[in-house]
Amino acid sequence: MSDSPTRDALAEAAARVLQLRAELARHDHAYYVLDAPLIPDADYDALFRELQDLEQRWPQLRVADSPTQRVGGAPLPEFAQVQHRVPMLSIRTETDTTAQGAVAFDQRLRNRLGLDSDAPPLQYQAELKFDGLAISVRYEHGVLVQGATRGDGQTGEDVTQNVRTIRNLPLRLQGAAPQVLEVRGEVLMKRADFLRYNAAQRARGLPTLVNPRNGAAGSIRQLDPQVAAQRPLSFFAYGWGEIAGWPDQPRTQHEMLDAFARMGLPVAAQRACGAGAAALAEFHARVLGERDTLPFDIDGVVYKVDSLALQAELGYRNREPVWAVAHKYPAQERSTRLLAIEVQVGRTGKLTPVARLEPVFVGGVTVTSATLHNEDEVRRKDVRIGDTVIVRRAGDVIPEIVGVLGERREPGAQPFDLQGLLHGACPVCGSQIEREPGEVDWRCSGGLYCSAQRKQALLHYASRLAMDIEGLGERLVDQIVDAGLVHGLPDIYALRAEQLAELPRMAAKSADNLVRAIRASLRTTLARFIYALGIRHVGEATAKELARHFGGLQALLDADVQRLERVPDIGPVVAASIHTFFAQAHNREVVRQLLDAGIAWEETEGATLSRHLEGHTFVLTGTLPTLGREQARERIEAAGGKVSASVSRKTRWVVAGAEPGSKLERARELGIEVIDETALLQLLQAPADSPAEP
Ligand code: IVH
Repeated sequence: MSDSPTRDALAEAAARVLQLRAELARHDHAYYVLDAPLIPDADYDALFRELQDLEQRWPQLRVADSPTQRVGGAPLPEFAQVQHRVPMLSIRTETDTTAQGAVAFDQRLRNRLGLDSDAPPLQYQAELKFDGLAISVRYEHGVLVQGATRGDGQTGEDVTQNVRTIRNLPLRLQGAAPQVLEVRGEVLMKRADFLRYNAAQRARGLPTLVNPRNGAAGSIRQLDPQVAAQRPLSFFAYGWGEIAGWPDQPRTQHEMLDAFARMGLPVAAQRACGAGAAALAEFHARVLGERDTLPFDIDGVVYKVDSLALQAELGYRNREPVWAVAHKYPAQERSTRLLAIEVQVGRTGKLTPVARLEPVFVGGVTVTSATLHNEDEVRRKDVRIGDTVIVRRAGDVIPEIVGVLGERREPGAQPFDLQGLLHGACPVCGSQIEREPGEVDWRCSGGLYCSAQRKQALLHYASRLAMDIEGLGERLVDQIVDAGLVHGLPDIYALRAEQLAELPRMAAKSADNLVRAIRASLRTTLARFIYALGIRHVGEATAKELARHFGGLQALLDADVQRLERVPDIGPVVAASIHTFFAQAHNREVVRQLLDAGIAWEETEGATLSRHLEGHTFVLTGTLPTLGREQARERIEAAGGKVSASVSRKTRWVVAGAEPGSKLERARELGIEVIDETALLQLLQAPADSPAEP
């Protein structure tokens, strides 16, 4: 009797585990197959964790078809072989991509069946031709037990572990399941998943996938299931292999797909049953129109004789079914020549290499250029000017270069070097370009001046935490720049209400208000102004810190990297960014013009361009109550003073804090005036014309 509480607990856990698995399977189906989630992700995660915990505590409850087993096991040295009990064959392709392709197929079958023109039309099922990788998924008594690639059609590879990671594939079928059901279908990567995955890889400087098809094929044949689990794969069912013990077995292709859907298997919604060639041609045309809006790539449609009995009668020829045909669409990948690589400057200063291509018709449009994303990407693909490249355009996605036909490379073609190509200067404004360690993008450092960045610069400058110019939002920035009223930031201070009132959709009153808001922004704080300049990595908090630390703008402009790094919370990357920014003559000029326009801030910030302590040397000793040693030094220097390490007759003031050292004694010996922090702060704030005595 002693272990009965444990037995009770186990029974309770077992019941809960079953409940959780059923619940999670229901949510997976709703989310991944029906695309209609029932609960928020966080709720799902909570259920998932509860199941994980229970299985951890009670290992005897673990089973292969638990949703927790989707995340993959240990890496394999190689895949085991799988003999297909029903071979996995491919289908013949109708080469004529016009409607005539459907007519030719229908006619062929009618001839073979000896049907004359009076005989009724054949019934067909039309489906999508998924552009992925064929797999066979075996369910026994409703439980997923094996996944296999097609291989040579007879022998494939056992990819069960990876197949389990496909999120829209049920690990257990719904309802009454056949004893054995081998589902045949296609593994693919949805376009959005592919783009998201590649964007994440690119951001981390990791290799990207060439296209969704290669992505799917590579992922399913990953020996490390943990890696496969990271790749977002989907599955769509279109047929079966071995089946056994299925009482009311479907008799047509469309009943088969409907039965699959009822079992919770993913089946594409785009499928149609119809009579004769006309129905097939109509499906072909309709799906072509929808091709770009489908969530995944297709390379055509597939026509099948609907009756399974008639399929069997028609049989196979040359290892291809007579009863099915693929009717293709024009390709979404073509090769062409890379004529040049140009570099575009984005509105945030990011430099993007863009390929200029010999015009090529691909994915339904003529393509003359394609993004190359960034320098690393170009190097990884080893794309060189003059190369023959493969261009891909799928959906309304921007065209991309996915690879190079290496054997056609011209001798002497050089690897891509962005900095060399641009001679280190922004192609728009000539400012220095920079690339931070760990970053994949080169950027233009002329943020205030570069015309490619001016809209962004203006928008940021006017934003609430910066100069806070109410009314100067995106639409207006577009208008005043496009109308040529504003070229650079300082131009906004010259805007007149009459000019603004002439803009479309601009009332006289709004124009007045805007001019007033622009004027009002002239009185600001040093921190806001620094933030408004839009220096990379200088957010609101950093701007405040810089204002506090330097006290004035001039000291900040003059600061070298070492000095910037002494500011609390500013590391080498931020320091370098600030330094490069102010090292650009154009940026400094814009700052000067802004100040000339009348920008001013409170003197209490210590922000003054006056050098009223010029010619005076200070010595600091002991700990000051509020100012750090560095801060005190920066502020004295900002006002034109000098700070020396030792007291001499040239010393004008010794500033003493708590626990001063021998410098204080020396000052007394030499009769040099000793002041405290309060007196120093007064000195620092004194009017520009005459240095006040404390
Ligand atoms: S039926 C015995 N239906 O296209 C006929 N195949 O060469 C088995 N495919 O490798 C194929 N979508 O992976 C069928 N709706 C569909 C399909 C489809 C894509 C693939 C399949 C095969 C190739 C045909």
